[in-house]
Amino acid sequence: MAHTIVIFGASGDLTSRKLIPALYQLHRKGRLPADTRVVGFSRTEFTHEAWREQLTETTREFAGKDFDETKWKEFSQAIFYQPGDIGRGEDFDALAKTLNELEGGQPTARVYYLSTAPQFYAEATARLGAAGLAEESHGGRRIIIEKPFGTDLASAQKLNAAVHQVFAERQVYRIDHYLGKETVQNLLVLRFANAIFEPIWNRNYIDHVQITAAEEVAVGRRGGYYDHAGVLRDMFQNHLLQLLMVTAMEAPVRRTADAIRDEKVKVLQAIRPLTPEEVARATLRGQYRGYLEEPGVAADSETATFAVVKLGVDNWRWQGVPFYLRSGKWMSCRTTQIVIQFRQPPFMMFEDGKVVGHEANRLVIQVQPAEGIQLHLQTKVPDAGMKMRLTDLDFRFDRSFAGVMPEAYERLLLDAINGDASLFARSDEVELAWGIIDPIHQAWKETRHPAMLTYEPGLWGPTESTDWMEAEGRSWFDTCPVLR
Ligand code: BG6
Repeated sequence: MAHTIVIFGASGDLTSRKLIPALYQLHRKGRLPADTRVVGFSRTEFTHEAWREQLTETTREFAGKDFDETKWKEFSQAIFYQPGDIGRGEDFDALAKTLNELEGGQPTARVYYLSTAPQFYAEATARLGAAGLAEESHGGRRIIIEKPFGTDLASAQKLNAAVHQVFAERQVYRIDHYLGKETVQNLLVLRFANAIFEPIWNRNYIDHVQITAAEEVAVGRRGGYYDHAGVLRDMFQNHLLQLLMVTAMEAPVRRTADAIRDEKVKVLQAIRPLTPEEVARATLRGQYRGYLEEPGVAADSETATFAVVKLGVDNWRWQGVPFYLRSGKWMSCRTTQIVIQFRQPPFMMFEDGKVVGHEANRLVIQVQPAEGIQLHLQTKVPDAGMKMRLTDLDFRFDRSFAGVMPEAYERLLLDAINGDASLFARSDEVELAWGIIDPIHQAWKETRHPAMLTYEPGLWGPTESTDWMEAEGRSWFDTCPVLR
């Protein structure tokens, strides 16, 4: 069957940086179904040709050495443009007409991609419904919705209700690009295609889990958006909780979208939202020095650019194992990593039976960059009595596999085209995630505890975060990944 991908917000950054390059790569690799076309919709007046020309330049830049003139020419012939305003019903009627003409009345599956400003998601969905564009008699109709999905639980519920007025849940694909990363999918493979990890993947062997998404970049030009969002909405509600779910979930009974998402949802259900007193003790918030001078940021802003959140997953597997989630802008380096910190050996026959001073085993899942896995273990230092040192067994994707890691959007777009929603968030998942994040925001605002900390750019967040972790009896794994 033919496919049409309609991108709303076509003149935006995401389209030229990520979506078109990803679709082009899929075409280049021969993965797009034959007879796939792309139609852009936004307010800017472009002809088909003018939009193609602009995309030629941006794709050349973002696809880098994979840009092949001949392949791009083939692909760009299937790119079209329809100017229109989300606020105008007649523009959706015009879009419907254009789509029917392009599709020549043939049965065609359509994917609508909402990449507009988030305040237009509900309206765009309603107008798709009103123009008959969600109707499935001529092929499947799916809708991909970019993040953020709401700004809190109430707005996410409202948006879910608006979307469900027009599309059934099976047609809705809420994107979280972290799930499209190879290393995140590999975590499922690591856990559920190897028999050696599952037996120890629980409270009996694991002391705690650290999930860190550190960014080297500052807020920069995104101040207007970021100052309303802050690190909890921008990174925790979606990406960090997704990583937590994939780390903590039970093995799904089969590899179907709902079986996988059922297990993920159970993890969120097992996380008890924090009370204001717990928020004061179990979270940290910080702002990098200089944030208030960023363009678009309020001079007296109390938006956190760094946070730590300690969560517990109250079930048989994880009871008593803290999950430390941490993310921030303008930190030491760019690294997203999941650290599974195992317990100390119960008895040490070396060093007089004492367990002091020893770092216990650690599994480091390096999500990005330097994608791979390291298992840290104690090794005897040669020719030094029974002295030991933590060394590692190391797997790196780039050493074991030729070729570059694909962009997350390639996998996600292809899955949506093929109707596989496994790597997309379901409505209950999104709402449960907000149910965990909202009480933290609320407590920060109302009780003002913990106090906002300031950190110097280029560090691992506020220095108080190191002390806080020490008071927990643990230490952060503050290591930048080694890039070749
Ligand atoms: C986005 C956030 O969702 O994820 C950004 O809005 C953040 O603030 C980005 O920089 C991080 O994505 P990645 O793939 O670079 O880790």
